[in-house]
Amino acid sequence: MEIRWETQAGTDYSGSALILCVFEGDGPVAGPLQGFEEWTASGEISGKTGECTLIHRPAGFKAARVLLAGGGKREQFGPPAMRKLAGTAVRFLKAKGISKAALVLEQALSTSDYASAAAEGALLGNYEGDRLKTDKSASKFMDEFAILGSGEDVEAGVTRGRILGEAQNWARELANEPPNLMTPTVLAERAGEMAAQYGLGCEIFDEAKMRELGMGALLGVALGSAEPPRFIILRYVPESGHASKSTVHLGLVGKGVTFDTGGISIKPAENMDKMKYDMCGSTAVLGAMRAIAQLKPGIPVTALVPTVENMPGSRSQRPGDIVKTLSGKTVEVLNTDAEGRLILADALTYAQRIGCTHLVDAATLTGACVVALGSVNTGTFASDDAFFGQWQAASTAEGEKMWRMPLDDEYKELLKSPFADLHNIGGRYGGAITAALFLKEFADPLPWIHLDIAGTAYIEENKSFMAKGPTALPLRSFVRLATLISG
Ligand code: BES
Ligand code: MN
Ligand code: ZN
Repeated sequence: MEIRWETQAGTDYSGSALILCVFEGDGPVAGPLQGFEEWTASGEISGKTGECTLIHRPAGFKAARVLLAGGGKREQFGPPAMRKLAGTAVRFLKAKGISKAALVLEQALSTSDYASAAAEGALLGNYEGDRLKTDKSASKFMDEFAILGSGEDVEAGVTRGRILGEAQNWARELANEPPNLMTPTVLAERAGEMAAQYGLGCEIFDEAKMRELGMGALLGVALGSAEPPRFIILRYVPESGHASKSTVHLGLVGKGVTFDTGGISIKPAENMDKMKYDMCGSTAVLGAMRAIAQLKPGIPVTALVPTVENMPGSRSQRPGDIVKTLSGKTVEVLNTDAEGRLILADALTYAQRIGCTHLVDAATLTGACVVALGSVNTGTFASDDAFFGQWQAASTAEGEKMWRMPLDDEYKELLKSPFADLHNIGGRYGGAITAALFLKEFADPLPWIHLDIAGTAYIEENKSFMAKGPTALPLRSFVRLATLISG
């Protein structure tokens, strides 16, 4: 879909559909509802969030249709709500076969942040995960979306929104690929192609290189699969013109398990297909790098993605195996289904070796996190309050909800093994916390944030503003954090 910025007045737009934002409690007198009094009085148009009213041949407009899109209460409206409104409008219109539309940013909403959110929301709403359907008769997409706004920074906002929206859809497409087509080798290839296209540095480690380095935890998980593992490193370095005085080097680490059967500690069959999404941490990190390469923050950012397939087989690692991590610490693998923390351990150590000063990881790590927080908030663990403050500012601005969870030392008792330095599971209770504390062993002493996205990385049903499947979360917050730290 092409996203454009235009300054013409809404009434002059002559395409197939013009989208106007309407709000709860707004009088029709001065706002976009002028002329629609009959329906506001009857309560048919209330301005509630998600409400869509399509009017044909509207008087006073050149457009063939006006879509009145509800934004809820004005006091609660902000760029995150605009993102959803634009997505809802696009999905509503494209379902009717309408392929061109424009959204009006009224004076008060004519800012860079609103323009960015509107562009992004439109792109996100337009995405469907139906690439492999050969019958395209039911697949409908919007081709052109214009944002009409006269504010000074609107154009820059539209550009930023386009970059972010396209990066998220790129990440969603990778995560949606079926596990027979999206193997660690393929993920590494796709990351490499993207890096070449956007001018990022790229290094891919194969098994031999991992063995030479001593990434025993990552290699252990990979043993059961015929598909070889990869370790992907992408580097963004600011040009001297962009570089900030800050000495921060941000490391973004993403879990890239292309399919998680559980290994020898095999998972039940029900819903196992969803474990193709066990690579969503990695796609969010890679997608963030795609946007960062274009938005050019002032600090260096390195992506580190360990990617494997977790399979049972005659060569698999067994419960009871002891592996030596890159850090030198030994781990007794009591449950081969707790594989994410094993591959992330080596990635976190490697991030330290290459000089990262701040680390953030994203991983579909535990079912326990889904039990604790459901699909609304991402479980967020932080070893440093100041860094968490920056993360909170970044994620709040992007409308990606985060909830801080505890990391008390007392829970560490649960990770003690009689045979090795640690074991890889923590017992029945507090599973998201013990998983996080396991990772902390490898992230310390750096300021580090761990995001357990098991409940938020993908949605099980369509939403009005987004198709079911991967959400790309927390890609936007990653990008915002990089910009925010640059100062
Ligand atoms: N990938 C899963 C976690 C997961 C579960 C993600 C549900 C998305 C939805 C992870 O590798 C896993 O299997 N975790 C185990 C850990 C346990 C063995 C300590 C879990 O949560 O059951
Ligand atoms: Mn698992
Ligand atoms: Zn997993």
